[in-house]
Amino acid sequence: MTAGDGARGTRDSSARGNPRGATEARARPRGGQAVGIDLGTSNSVVAVIDKDGAPRILTTPEGSTTMPSLVWFSPDGPVVGELARAGLDYSPDLTIFGAKRLLGRRFDHPEIRRLSRVLPFELVEAPNGDTWIALSAGRSVSPEEVCALILREIRHIAEDHYGEPVTRAVITIPAWYDAAQRQATKDAAQIAGLTVVRLLSEPTAASLGHGAHRGADRRYLVCDLGGGTFDVAAVDVQAGIFEVLATTGDAFLGGDDVDRAVVDNLIRDVRSARGFDITSDTIAVERLRLAAQNTKHELSDVAVSKVYVPELVQLPSGRAVEYQKPMRRDELEQWSSSLIRRIEAPIREALRRCGRKREDIEEVLLVGGMTRMPVVRREIARVTGREPHVIPNPEEVVAVGAALEVARLEGAIEGVLLIDVAARGLAVSLGGDCEQVIAQSSVVPTREHRVFGTRHDDQLRIEFDVWEGESPDPAQNRLLSRYAVLDLPPAPAGDVLVLVEMTIDTDGTVRLGASELVSGERLQLEQLYHAGLARTDVLRLQRQFAETP
Ligand SMILES: Nc1ncnc2c1ncn2[C@@H]1O[C@H](COP(=O)(O)OP(=O)(O)OP(=O)(O)O)[C@@H](O)[C@H]1O
Ligand SMILES: [Mg+2]
Repeated sequence: MTAGDGARGTRDSSARGNPRGATEARARPRGGQAVGIDLGTSNSVVAVIDKDGAPRILTTPEGSTTMPSLVWFSPDGPVVGELARAGLDYSPDLTIFGAKRLLGRRFDHPEIRRLSRVLPFELVEAPNGDTWIALSAGRSVSPEEVCALILREIRHIAEDHYGEPVTRAVITIPAWYDAAQRQATKDAAQIAGLTVVRLLSEPTAASLGHGAHRGADRRYLVCDLGGGTFDVAAVDVQAGIFEVLATTGDAFLGGDDVDRAVVDNLIRDVRSARGFDITSDTIAVERLRLAAQNTKHELSDVAVSKVYVPELVQLPSGRAVEYQKPMRRDELEQWSSSLIRRIEAPIREALRRCGRKREDIEEVLLVGGMTRMPVVRREIARVTGREPHVIPNPEEVVAVGAALEVARLEGAIEGVLLIDVAARGLAVSLGGDCEQVIAQSSVVPTREHRVFGTRHDDQLRIEFDVWEGESPDPAQNRLLSRYAVLDLPPAPAGDVLVLVEMTIDTDGTVRLGASELVSGERLQLEQLYHAGLARTDVLRLQRQFAETP
C-alpha cells in the first residue's frame, strides 16, 4: 500500500448484526471493541480496521458513510442523525446542530454571544458559566448531552457491524481544543458508554488516515475546513514519527458560516422580490438554509445552479409560496468572500509558530467537506504558494486516522509514533497575576511544578487558580479550575512549602497533584470550581443513557 491508500477505506455493506463479527468476538480481549470516531460539527464518521488491516468506514442505517451531527428533541424523544433532518423543518428550535461548537465554551465568550443571535435554538447560561441549550419545554441540555446522543448512535452503528458491544473509542478533536473542551468531549463519550482510549488531534488523524506513515518523509500542512471550524497544523512525518509542530485555527469559521452568509443575501432577495420579511420566521429561514447548503454543494461542481424551496411560507389563505432563484458560483464566492479571507491568518500563524517559510512545506493536505469548494482551494493555494493535495474523501480521512490509531494502540501497527504539543500554555495564580507553568507548544505528555509557601502562621489551606493561556493578565486567559490544598500542618508563615505538580497528558488532559515539599507527603486537593459538567452529573447521565438504549 502506498501513501494515500489508507484514506480510501472500504464501504461497509454488511447487514446489521453481521454473524462474522460474532465469531470474531471470541478471539477479542474482554472489554468490547474499539472504534475510531470523527465527532464533527456537521457530520460524524466512524471507522474500524478490518482483520486484513484495511480501514473501513461504517455506514449509517440509511447507507451513508457520514452521519449528520444532528439531534431533534421530538415529542417522542431524541431523534439522531439523518432522521433528525425532519426536525429542522418542523421544529428548528428543538433541532440542535453544531453542538461541537458549544462544547466546553463559556456563555460570555464573544463568539457564543454572536452565535446565540443567529441560531434557531436558544442558548442559555448554565450556573457555572457554561453554554447550554434551552429546549422549549422549560428544559435545557448541555452540549455534552447532545454530543453523547450522537456518540451513542455511532456506538450502535459500530455494534451492529461487530455484533458485540463497542465500549472504547479514539475520538478526534480540533488540535486547538483547550482542556475544558477536551474534558467535555470525554464526558460526552462517557455518558454514551464509551471510554476514550485517546483523544487524537484532527490534523494528526488526517495525516495518519492519508497514509503518511507508509509514504516518504514529508513536511505537511494540514488545512481542514469543515462545517464549524478551520484547523491548520504543520505536521512532520519522519520515519514513522508524526510530530505536530504547530496548530492554529479559527474556531468559528466553517461551512455553517458560509451558509448563513448566503441566507442573509437570500432573505434580502425574498424581501425585494416578494415583498415580505422572513427574518423572524425560523422555519422559513431554516428551509432557506438547507436549500442554500444544497446549492453550495452543487456549485462546487457546476458554475450555475438554483436555490429551490418548494414551500417557503404559507399565506393566510393556506396557499404555499415557493421560492426559487438562480445562483452562480461567482455570486456564492462574493457572498462568502469575507469568510474566505479569514483562511489566510491561521495558515500564516501556523508557519510563524513553527518557524517555517511556506517554501518549507512539502505537501498541503486538504481535509473537510468545505475544501471541495473551488474558491477555498484557490485561496489555500494562493496563501501556501503550492497546489494542495486533493484527496477523494476529505470528510472521511480523519475517522480513518482515528481507526488506525486504535490499531496502533492495540499493537497492530508498529513503528508509528505520534508526538503532539500542548495547544495552550498552562498558568497558575494566587489571586494576582498569572505565572506560566507549562509553555504553549510544549511536547506532551509533560509535567511541571510550582512551589507555594504559606503566608500566615498556622495557615490551613492555599487556594489557587489554574488558567489556560499565555498572558500574565488573568483577563486574557481562560480560567480552567480553582483548587484548595487542604489540611496543611500548623507551622509559622513560610515554613510549609507545597509542591503542586501539573501534568498535560498525551491527549491534552490536565491533571494536578499536591504534596508537601519537605516530607513528600501527598496533600489533599479540593476542586472548588471547574468548567464543564460535575462528575456526579456525568455519572447520572451515563446511568440514564444506559437505561434507555
Ligand atoms: N461538495 C461540497 N461543496 C462545498 N461544501 C461542501 C460540499 N460537501 C460538503 N460541504 C460542506 O462541508 C461542511 C461539512 O464538512 P465536514 O463533514 O468535513 O465537517 P465536520 O467534520 O462536521 O466539521 P468540523 O471539522 O468543523 O467539526 C458543510 O458545511 C458542508 O456544507
Ligand atoms: Mg471535521
